[in-house]
Amino acid sequence: MERTLILIKPDGVCKALVGEVIQTIEKEGFKLVGLKMIRLDEKNAEEFYRPHQGKDFFPGLIDFMLTAPSVALVAEGQGAVKRIREIIGERKPEDAGAETIRGRYASDGRRNIVHGSDSVQSAEWEIDCLFHSEELFSYQPQDWLESEPG
Ligand code: TYD
Ligand code: MG
Repeated sequence: MERTLILIKPDGVCKALVGEVIQTIEKEGFKLVGLKMIRLDEKNAEEFYRPHQGKDFFPGLIDFMLTAPSVALVAEGQGAVKRIREIIGERKPEDAGAETIRGRYASDGRRNIVHGSDSVQSAEWEIDCLFHSEELFSYQPQDWLESEPG
């Protein structure tokens, strides 16, 4: 099943949006298979944003990512990568739909609350970057929902 990596960035944590982001993902029907709070250090942050190394905004982006903890999530479901990117919205709040997370809450094109993988391939790489295999869980929600009480 397709998986995507979501990172609630320091501004999302500081603006108390962790619950709302998780609720949005759950309500869309995606299954959470990984979840943890992490304080990125310079090395982790530079590794995570490796595709942007050398760009003019890179140092500022890394500094921002070190300002507070982040919350990393792995969500699973059909079309997870594309749908989660739609829910998050475009990078800059002025370009993001009013109903998207960034459209509602981002301060600017850097402090934009949440990251979502942009392809299945980058999702796999980003999940490996932030999670150990034993931190990812396999379970069947429907087994629990269908079971009889007692
Ligand atoms: P990007 O991959 O373009 O956006 P997205 O997060 O939607 O995939 O950029 C990654 C992050 O880098 C972006 O969320 C914030 C930061 N960034 C800046 O701070 N300034 C910039 O000019 C750009 C392009 C990105
Ligand atoms: Mg990107």
